Amino acid sequence: MTEFTIKHLFWICLAIAATLCSTSKANERQPIQAQSGNAFLSASMQAMQQDPMANPISLWLDKGHALWTGIDRQASCAQCHGPIENNKTHASQFPKWSSKFKKLINLEDQIVDCSQKTSLPYQSLEAADVLALSALLHQQSQNRTIQLKPDDKYKEQWQRELNSGAQLFTQRMGRMNLACTHCHDQNVGKRMQADIISPGHPTGFPIFKLSWQSMGSVDRRIRACYSGIQAEVPQPGSRELRQLELFLKIRAEGMTLDGPSLRR
Ligand code: HEC
Ligand code: HEC
Repeated sequence: MTEFTIKHLFWICLAIAATLCSTSKANERQPIQAQSGNAFLSASMQAMQQDPMANPISLWLDKGHALWTGIDRQASCAQCHGPIENNKTHASQFPKWSSKFKKLINLEDQIVDCSQKTSLPYQSLEAADVLALSALLHQQSQNRTIQLKPDDKYKEQWQRELNSGAQLFTQRMGRMNLACTHCHDQNVGKRMQADIISPGHPTGFPIFKLSWQSMGSVDRRIRACYSGIQAEVPQPGSRELRQLELFLKIRAEGMTLDGPSLRR
């Protein structure tokens, strides 16, 4: 064989290998539409996620544990809720309709509300302590299926919020005139700047996003998507964000929780 054909053969082999790699990645166990955001991490991000020494989430979980048992608090979470190991189902059950607030609340809302019963009430949904406790409660629920069902008494309200969430998901908005569905249903797997568009499942939260240098909730991530399409960004905790979270969780029915996790 001449040098030319050997070289040629080499490039063909490389191309075949690359194609095999990319398709086997896309078909990993589940169809791409049913994959968690964690399946879209680059190899180096996955390595970082699996290494407790390199993964910044470890520190947040330590902090969450300290807050839960609350050495320096008059009333700690543990005083009412017992050891953290007895609290494995909460994260899989939010958002839920709150009769107290007459709206949907998510896990972070519940943490802020409960903190009012302690000596260190939190003011903000994005407070580091709230996110650390959310990370801890999500870790307890890892590998659990999302379990959302309306309370019989509030079925109508719940269904109305869910319908609004579904409607929001397909509603065009912003200067780019796009809806969530255009990216997270119709362009899954395509590259957008440095990201590969995932189905936008809510399973991996809260996330430690390197570009935020912080933990963030699903609330913050959805606001970032509003900002990305240059739409008016809703306030943290606003009704539409909870409606979208409920819709995303119903849409992800059958999937298990795999947060907290890292993002680029
Ligand atoms: C122009 C495309 C685009 C639109 C429109 C868009 N997003 Fe996103 N979204 C992204 C990109 C890119 C990411 C980061 C990569 C990824 O995980 O998909 C992302 C991430 C997410 C994630 C996090 C997934 C994870 O596991 O980290 C959620 C949840 C999400 N989007 C929800 C929404 C919702 C709800 C809307 C509508 C309000 C929306 N997005 C609109 C592009 C979009
Ligand atoms: C004084 C007792 C008390 C303290 C302290 C307390 N909680 Fe609660 N918590 C409750 C009660 C009662 C409920 C039932 C719903 C309600 O009243 O909000 C609840 C509900 C919850 C739920 C939802 C459970 C579910 O699945 O319905 C979570 C999660 C939670 N608390 C987390 C926390 C965290 C985190 C802390 C510490 C910051 C904390 N709680 C501190 C009494 C307490």
